Amino acid sequence: MLPDKKSFSAVLTGVLLTGLTALCSAETVLVTGSNSGIGFAFAEKYASMGWDVIATHRRSETPETLKELAQKYDTVQVERMDVTNNAEIDSLAQKMKDTPIDVLINNAGVMVIGKLGDPEVTAAQEFGTLDYEQFDTFMHTNVMGPIKIAEAFVDNLRASKDGKIVNISSTAGSICPPISPFREGYWYKASKVALNMMMKNLAYDLKKDDIVVIMFHPGGVRSEKLKDIKFPGLMEPSESVGSMVEVIDSLTMIDSGKFIDYTGKPQPF
Ligand SMILES: NC(=O)c1ccc[n+]([C@@H]2O[C@H](COP(=O)([O-])OP(=O)(O)OC[C@H]3O[C@@H](n4cnc5c(N)ncnc54)[C@H](OP(=O)(O)O)[C@@H]3O)[C@@H](O)[C@H]2O)c1
Repeated sequence: MLPDKKSFSAVLTGVLLTGLTALCSAETVLVTGSNSGIGFAFAEKYASMGWDVIATHRRSETPETLKELAQKYDTVQVERMDVTNNAEIDSLAQKMKDTPIDVLINNAGVMVIGKLGDPEVTAAQEFGTLDYEQFDTFMHTNVMGPIKIAEAFVDNLRASKDGKIVNISSTAGSICPPISPFREGYWYKASKVALNMMMKNLAYDLKKDDIVVIMFHPGGVRSEKLKDIKFPGLMEPSESVGSMVEVIDSLTMIDSGKFIDYTGKPQPF
Protein backbone atom coordinates (compact mmCIF):
# COMPACT_ATOMS: atom_id res chain seq x y z
CA MET A 1 0.00 0.00 0.00
CA LEU A 2 1.34 3.44 -0.92
CA PRO A 3 1.63 5.94 2.00
CA ASP A 4 -0.98 8.70 1.93
CA LYS A 5 0.13 12.26 1.25
CA LYS A 6 0.21 13.18 4.97
CA SER A 7 2.33 10.26 6.15
CA PHE A 8 4.66 10.62 3.15
CA SER A 9 5.38 14.25 4.04
CA ALA A 10 5.92 13.25 7.73
CA VAL A 11 8.50 10.65 6.64
CA LEU A 12 10.19 13.19 4.35
CA THR A 13 10.32 15.77 7.16
CA GLY A 14 11.83 13.14 9.46
CA VAL A 15 14.51 12.23 6.92
CA LEU A 16 15.34 15.91 6.32
CA LEU A 17 15.53 16.64 10.06
CA THR A 18 17.84 13.68 10.68
CA GLY A 19 20.07 14.85 7.83
CA LEU A 20 20.11 18.41 9.11
CA THR A 21 20.90 17.29 12.68
CA ALA A 22 23.81 15.20 11.37
CA LEU A 23 25.04 18.20 9.37
CA CYS A 24 24.72 20.58 12.32
CA SER A 25 26.36 18.30 14.84
CA ALA A 26 29.89 18.24 13.43
CA GLU A 27 32.34 17.84 16.25
CA THR A 28 34.28 20.85 17.50
CA VAL A 29 37.87 21.25 18.59
CA LEU A 30 39.56 24.32 20.06
CA VAL A 31 43.34 24.50 19.68
CA THR A 32 45.62 27.03 21.38
CA GLY A 33 48.81 28.20 19.69
CA SER A 34 47.48 26.84 16.42
CA ASN A 35 49.49 29.01 14.02
CA SER A 36 52.57 26.78 13.93
CA GLY A 37 54.13 23.41 14.71
CA ILE A 38 52.04 20.86 16.58
CA GLY A 39 49.11 23.25 17.07
CA PHE A 40 48.84 23.97 13.37
CA ALA A 41 49.05 20.25 12.57
CA PHE A 42 46.12 19.64 14.95
CA ALA A 43 44.03 22.39 13.35
CA GLU A 44 44.81 21.10 9.85
CA LYS A 45 44.17 17.45 10.74
CA TYR A 46 40.81 18.06 12.44
CA ALA A 47 39.71 20.40 9.62
CA SER A 48 40.55 17.68 7.09
CA MET A 49 38.37 15.30 9.10
CA GLY A 50 35.37 17.63 8.75
CA TRP A 51 35.45 18.99 12.30
CA ASP A 52 34.63 22.56 13.23
CA VAL A 53 37.96 24.05 14.33
CA ILE A 54 38.38 27.06 16.59
CA ALA A 55 41.99 27.88 15.74
CA THR A 56 43.47 30.36 18.21
CA HIS A 57 46.69 32.36 18.14
CA ARG A 58 48.24 35.29 20.01
CA ARG A 59 49.46 37.46 17.11
CA SER A 60 48.18 40.98 16.54
CA GLU A 61 47.37 40.01 12.94
CA THR A 62 45.98 36.73 11.66
CA PRO A 63 48.97 34.49 10.86
CA GLU A 64 49.32 33.48 7.19
CA THR A 65 49.17 29.77 8.07
CA LEU A 66 45.72 30.18 9.61
CA LYS A 67 44.52 32.56 6.89
CA GLU A 68 45.28 29.87 4.31
CA LEU A 69 43.72 27.12 6.41
CA ALA A 70 40.50 29.11 6.84
CA GLN A 71 40.44 29.73 3.08
CA LYS A 72 40.75 26.02 2.43
CA TYR A 73 38.17 24.91 5.04
CA ASP A 74 35.16 27.04 5.86
CA THR A 75 34.81 25.09 9.12
CA VAL A 76 37.92 26.80 10.49
CA GLN A 77 37.23 29.82 12.68
CA VAL A 78 40.34 31.81 13.54
CA GLU A 79 40.33 33.66 16.86
CA ARG A 80 42.88 35.64 18.80
CA MET A 81 43.58 34.29 22.29
CA ASP A 82 46.84 34.91 24.10
CA VAL A 83 46.85 32.22 26.78
CA THR A 84 48.39 34.65 29.27
CA ASN A 85 45.62 37.20 28.79
CA ASN A 86 42.63 36.35 31.00
CA ALA A 87 40.45 39.06 29.44
CA GLU A 88 40.98 37.59 25.96
CA ILE A 89 40.25 34.08 27.25
CA ASP A 90 37.03 35.22 28.94
CA SER A 91 35.96 37.21 25.91
CA LEU A 92 36.35 34.22 23.55
CA ALA A 93 34.59 31.94 26.06
CA GLN A 94 31.69 34.43 26.15
CA LYS A 95 31.56 34.55 22.34
CA MET A 96 31.52 30.72 22.14
CA LYS A 97 29.16 30.18 25.08
CA ASP A 98 26.52 28.32 23.06
CA THR A 99 29.00 26.06 21.26
CA PRO A 100 29.67 22.60 22.67
CA ILE A 101 33.38 21.79 22.46
CA ASP A 102 34.33 18.13 22.16
CA VAL A 103 38.10 18.46 22.35
CA LEU A 104 40.02 21.34 23.91
CA ILE A 105 43.73 21.21 23.11
CA ASN A 106 46.04 23.17 25.39
CA ASN A 107 48.97 23.20 22.99
CA ALA A 108 50.44 26.73 23.24
CA GLY A 109 53.70 26.67 25.12
CA VAL A 110 57.16 28.12 25.44
CA MET A 111 60.25 25.94 25.48
CA VAL A 112 62.85 28.69 25.33
CA ILE A 113 62.66 32.45 25.11
CA GLY A 114 64.70 33.37 22.04
CA LYS A 115 66.39 31.14 19.49
CA LEU A 116 66.81 27.51 20.53
CA GLY A 117 70.50 26.59 20.58
CA ASP A 118 71.73 30.16 21.09
CA PRO A 119 74.19 29.88 24.04
CA GLU A 120 72.73 32.93 25.80
CA VAL A 121 69.20 31.58 25.45
CA THR A 122 70.33 28.22 26.84
CA ALA A 123 72.14 29.89 29.73
CA ALA A 124 68.94 31.64 30.80
CA GLN A 125 67.66 28.24 31.93
CA GLU A 126 70.95 26.82 33.29
CA PHE A 127 71.97 26.71 36.95
CA GLY A 128 74.53 29.44 37.61
CA THR A 129 73.13 31.79 34.95
CA LEU A 130 69.37 31.43 35.48
CA ASP A 131 67.36 34.39 34.22
CA TYR A 132 64.73 34.91 36.91
CA GLU A 133 62.87 37.40 34.75
CA GLN A 134 61.82 34.52 32.48
CA PHE A 135 60.26 32.30 35.15
CA ASP A 136 56.84 33.97 35.15
CA THR A 137 56.51 33.73 31.36
CA PHE A 138 57.05 29.96 31.49
CA MET A 139 54.64 29.43 34.36
CA HIS A 140 52.01 31.78 32.99
CA THR A 141 52.06 30.32 29.46
CA ASN A 142 52.58 26.63 30.21
CA VAL A 143 50.69 26.30 33.51
CA MET A 144 48.30 29.12 34.36
CA GLY A 145 47.08 29.55 30.76
CA PRO A 146 45.91 25.94 30.35
CA ILE A 147 44.00 25.86 33.64
CA LYS A 148 42.42 29.26 33.03
CA ILE A 149 41.30 28.06 29.58
CA ALA A 150 39.92 24.83 31.05
CA GLU A 151 37.96 26.89 33.59
CA ALA A 152 36.68 29.35 31.01
CA PHE A 153 35.51 26.64 28.57
CA VAL A 154 34.40 23.91 30.96
CA ASP A 155 30.71 24.49 30.27
CA ASN A 156 31.35 24.05 26.54
CA LEU A 157 32.97 20.69 27.33
CA ARG A 158 30.09 19.76 29.64
CA ALA A 159 27.72 20.48 26.74
CA SER A 160 29.52 17.87 24.60
CA LYS A 161 28.51 14.24 24.93
CA ASP A 162 32.19 13.31 25.01
CA GLY A 163 34.29 16.24 26.28
CA LYS A 164 38.09 15.89 26.42
CA ILE A 165 40.80 18.25 27.63
CA VAL A 166 44.11 17.46 25.97
CA ASN A 167 47.30 19.00 27.29
CA ILE A 168 50.51 18.98 25.31
CA SER A 169 53.08 18.36 27.99
CA SER A 170 56.54 16.81 27.63
CA THR A 171 58.74 14.09 29.12
CA ALA A 172 60.65 17.12 30.37
CA GLY A 173 57.82 17.13 32.92
CA SER A 174 58.63 13.66 34.33
CA ILE A 175 60.53 13.65 37.60
CA CYS A 176 60.99 9.93 38.16
CA PRO A 177 62.69 8.55 35.01
CA PRO A 178 66.42 8.99 34.47
CA ILE A 179 66.79 12.75 34.14
CA SER A 180 66.78 13.97 30.56
CA PRO A 181 70.28 14.38 29.13
CA PHE A 182 69.82 18.13 29.02
CA ARG A 183 70.99 19.90 32.17
CA GLU A 184 69.43 23.11 30.98
CA GLY A 185 65.73 23.88 30.70
CA TYR A 186 65.06 24.52 34.42
CA TRP A 187 62.05 26.77 33.80
CA TYR A 188 60.61 24.64 30.98
CA LYS A 189 60.94 21.39 32.91
CA ALA A 190 59.43 22.89 36.08
CA SER A 191 56.50 24.29 34.10
CA LYS A 192 55.65 20.94 32.51
CA VAL A 193 55.84 19.15 35.90
CA ALA A 194 53.42 21.76 37.25
CA LEU A 195 51.14 21.33 34.21
CA ASN A 196 51.06 17.56 34.74
CA MET A 197 50.21 17.88 38.43
CA MET A 198 47.53 20.49 37.84
CA MET A 199 45.85 18.50 35.08
CA LYS A 200 45.98 15.31 37.17
CA ASN A 201 44.10 17.27 39.81
CA LEU A 202 41.63 18.54 37.23
CA ALA A 203 41.03 14.97 36.03
CA TYR A 204 39.76 14.09 39.54
CA ASP A 205 37.61 17.22 39.63
CA LEU A 206 35.97 16.62 36.25
CA LYS A 207 35.24 12.90 36.74
CA LYS A 208 31.74 13.82 37.87
CA ASP A 209 31.21 15.60 34.52
CA ASP A 210 32.55 12.68 32.45
CA ILE A 211 35.25 14.92 30.97
CA VAL A 212 38.53 13.18 30.13
CA VAL A 213 41.70 15.11 30.99
CA ILE A 214 44.93 13.81 29.47
CA MET A 215 48.57 14.86 29.18
CA PHE A 216 50.63 13.97 26.12
CA HIS A 217 54.32 13.83 25.41
CA PRO A 218 54.14 14.53 21.65
CA GLY A 219 57.54 12.94 20.97
CA GLY A 220 60.42 14.85 19.43
CA VAL A 221 58.76 16.99 16.78
CA ARG A 222 60.42 19.16 14.15
CA SER A 223 58.35 22.28 14.82
CA GLU A 224 59.35 25.87 14.03
CA LYS A 225 61.82 26.28 16.90
CA LEU A 226 63.53 22.96 16.14
CA LYS A 227 63.81 23.44 12.38
CA ASP A 228 67.52 24.30 12.40
CA ILE A 229 68.51 22.05 15.30
CA LYS A 230 70.25 18.75 14.61
CA PHE A 231 68.41 16.50 17.07
CA PRO A 232 68.33 12.91 15.81
CA GLY A 233 64.98 11.22 15.26
CA LEU A 234 62.65 14.21 15.12
CA MET A 235 59.25 13.60 13.49
CA GLU A 236 57.20 15.93 11.36
CA PRO A 237 54.30 17.53 13.31
CA SER A 238 51.78 15.67 11.11
CA GLU A 239 53.16 12.28 12.20
CA SER A 240 52.92 12.99 15.92
CA VAL A 241 49.52 14.67 15.55
CA GLY A 242 48.11 11.92 13.30
CA SER A 243 48.87 9.43 16.04
CA MET A 244 47.61 11.68 18.88
CA VAL A 245 44.30 12.26 17.09
CA GLU A 246 43.71 8.50 16.92
CA VAL A 247 44.61 8.13 20.60
CA ILE A 248 42.33 11.06 21.56
CA ASP A 249 39.48 9.43 19.71
CA SER A 250 39.91 6.22 21.67
CA LEU A 251 40.11 7.82 25.13
CA THR A 252 37.50 6.99 27.75
CA MET A 253 37.06 8.03 31.38
CA ILE A 254 39.37 5.16 32.46
CA ASP A 255 42.22 7.10 30.83
CA SER A 256 41.51 10.40 32.55
CA GLY A 257 44.51 11.76 34.46
CA LYS A 258 47.04 9.69 32.50
CA PHE A 259 50.30 11.01 31.10
CA ILE A 260 50.95 9.21 27.80
CA ASP A 261 53.09 9.64 24.73
CA TYR A 262 51.82 10.29 21.21
CA THR A 263 51.30 6.55 20.64
CA GLY A 264 49.29 6.15 23.85
CA LYS A 265 52.14 4.57 25.84
CA PRO A 266 52.06 5.55 29.57
CA GLN A 267 54.78 7.97 30.63
CA PRO A 268 56.16 8.11 34.16
CA PHE A 269 55.32 11.22 36.16
N1 LIG B 1 58.44 20.06 19.41
C1 LIG B 1 58.72 19.15 20.33
O1 LIG B 1 59.58 18.27 20.14
C2 LIG B 1 57.97 19.15 21.65
C3 LIG B 1 58.31 18.19 22.59
C4 LIG B 1 57.61 18.17 23.79
C5 LIG B 1 56.61 19.07 24.01
N2 LIG B 1 56.30 20.03 23.08
C6 LIG B 1 55.19 20.97 23.38
O2 LIG B 1 54.37 21.10 22.25
C7 LIG B 1 53.68 22.35 22.29
C8 LIG B 1 53.76 23.01 20.91
O3 LIG B 1 55.09 23.33 20.64
P1 LIG B 1 55.74 23.23 19.18
O4 LIG B 1 56.86 22.28 19.28
O5 LIG B 1 54.71 23.03 18.16
O6 LIG B 1 56.41 24.69 19.08
P2 LIG B 1 56.02 26.01 18.28
O7 LIG B 1 55.95 25.74 16.82
O8 LIG B 1 56.96 27.04 18.81
O9 LIG B 1 54.54 26.32 18.76
C9 LIG B 1 54.24 26.95 19.98
C10 LIG B 1 52.94 27.68 19.77
O10 LIG B 1 52.52 28.25 21.03
C11 LIG B 1 52.19 29.60 20.78
N3 LIG B 1 52.27 30.42 21.98
C12 LIG B 1 53.33 30.69 22.76
N4 LIG B 1 52.99 31.52 23.74
C13 LIG B 1 51.67 31.79 23.58
C14 LIG B 1 50.72 32.58 24.26
N5 LIG B 1 51.06 33.32 25.33
N6 LIG B 1 49.44 32.61 23.82
C15 LIG B 1 49.06 31.89 22.72
N7 LIG B 1 49.91 31.15 22.01
C16 LIG B 1 51.21 31.10 22.45
C17 LIG B 1 53.17 30.05 19.70
O11 LIG B 1 52.73 31.27 19.11
P3 LIG B 1 53.80 32.25 18.40
O12 LIG B 1 54.06 31.66 17.04
O13 LIG B 1 53.07 33.55 18.34
O14 LIG B 1 55.03 32.27 19.25
C18 LIG B 1 53.07 28.85 18.78
O15 LIG B 1 51.91 28.92 18.00
C19 LIG B 1 54.33 23.15 23.41
O16 LIG B 1 53.50 23.12 24.55
C20 LIG B 1 55.63 22.41 23.66
O17 LIG B 1 56.09 22.56 24.98
C21 LIG B 1 56.96 20.09 21.89
